[in-house]
Amino acid sequence: MAEERLVSPQRQAEESGLEPSLRPRRIDEYIGQERLKESLRIFLQAAQGRGEALDHVLLYGPPGLGKTTLANVIANEMGVNLKVTSGPAIERQGDLAAILTNLRRGDILFIDEVHRLSRVVEEVLYPAMEDFCLDIVIGKGPSARSIRLSLPHFTIIGATTRIALMTSPLRARFGVTYRLDFYEPPAMRAIVSRTAAILDVGIDKDGVEEIARRSRGTPRVANRLLKRVRDYAQVRAGGSITAEVARQALDLLAVDPLGLDEADRRVLHTLVDKFEGGPVGIETIAAALSEEADTVMDVYEPYLMQLGFLERTPRGRVATRRAYEHLGLPYPEQGNPSQPELFST
Ligand code: ADE
Repeated sequence: MAEERLVSPQRQAEESGLEPSLRPRRIDEYIGQERLKESLRIFLQAAQGRGEALDHVLLYGPPGLGKTTLANVIANEMGVNLKVTSGPAIERQGDLAAILTNLRRGDILFIDEVHRLSRVVEEVLYPAMEDFCLDIVIGKGPSARSIRLSLPHFTIIGATTRIALMTSPLRARFGVTYRLDFYEPPAMRAIVSRTAAILDVGIDKDGVEEIARRSRGTPRVANRLLKRVRDYAQVRAGGSITAEVARQALDLLAVDPLGLDEADRRVLHTLVDKFEGGPVGIETIAAALSEEADTVMDVYEPYLMQLGFLERTPRGRVATRRAYEHLGLPYPEQGNPSQPELFST
């Protein structure tokens, strides 16, 4: 049976006792991604002005940057229902048909990991997205017949960490595509301060700075680290977070000053220690780590590349000089030994 959540993640979180209010509900509460927000405001206002459903929206970027949050914000701003599902959860054409026929005009269907929709499901989605109709085959064999149902005008918000894995016909059916980038330090500090205020935890300016700096430009990481630092402060430091408390707590969690944790460093060490810094193929790295190549590509690589620690070359992944420096290892000088300048100094 396909998994489908008919309530918003916000409601889900409330019901499961998680802290739901960490997610901003309105665009003005949403910190960072300024260019995206400017464009989104126009897009929302224009659709509202015309009294129309939004065009389909595709959100892509590394995990934890707020794609689901943004889908919630869009639904709240439009005052419509949000249904949440994911590519792998929609197994059969019938699953999608059931979801689509239950949508009302203007409703938003959020499909996470949209690149993982199966081809047969995608085929049903194309006319649904384009013409708001559903072709259903009833029966089997010679007696099978096809009927066409019309659907209310709804909006798909697709989210993916891997836009390159989407088929081009699917990509082409989204009227608007937004890429979420890693957040800049001021936005990260604002997010840490906001979350601290919501969680009612005392934190000074330097404490905010320390957590923000180690959160790899990713709000989800910032919120998680803040909670762990809050635990540490409560048990060891009288409840308030200073830079020193944050440093001690994060050192204990093995989150280094750039925000890399043990798993990230393991990726770098594998590349450097086992493959002499590369170039080496992603499948080979993944096998050496006992991880899926997709996980390495989605979860670890984006931030390592952002830091300039890792490069993707046509021959494979390569660790950069900066990566060696960060690991405290000497960078092996490469090149043609006949070039004397390589041996000077
Ligand atoms: N929490 C997670 N992402 C956020 C964002 N972009 N703005 C405010 N709070 C957030």
